[in-house]
Amino acid sequence: MNKIVLAALSLAVVASAHAEAPAKPDKVIVCAACHGENGVATQPMYPNLAGQQANYIEHALHAYKSGERKNPIMSGQVTGLSDADIKQLAAWFSSQPAKDYVPDIDGPVGGKK
Ligand code: HEC
Repeated sequence: MNKIVLAALSLAVVASAHAEAPAKPDKVIVCAACHGENGVATQPMYPNLAGQQANYIEHALHAYKSGERKNPIMSGQVTGLSDADIKQLAAWFSSQPAKDYVPDIDGPVGGKK
């Protein structure tokens, strides 16, 4: 009996994980030039978005849009985004696997300067 309940529960977990995977929004193409299609930045000067909390991404995008957060590059990127776009983009990047952080022990912070 317990095994059946456990099996049913794990199926439910798998099913809900699939249900949460968001579709890739069309506007990801715009962000991909810098943040990468999957949220892993194309260059170190751009932040990774993969695995970031959706709430944080949404908040950041609204802050660029309102001017509360100022950045010449990002304020140009958000002008055409609706609230729905922001929600979808945040859900997309948040659901992408985060890039592993590999500390560089010979880098300026860790070891030899
Ligand atoms: C031309 C390059 C470029 C493009 C295109 C671009 N971004 Fe950015 N993005 C940046 C840079 C640079 C920053 C860091 C700005 C800062 O310091 O506030 C940033 C910051 C962000 C942040 C805040 C990250 C954090 O850790 O606080 C979010 C969220 C974000 N971008 C989402 C997007 C989305 C969504 C799109 C597509 C609609 C997009 N960006 C398009 C360059 C870009």
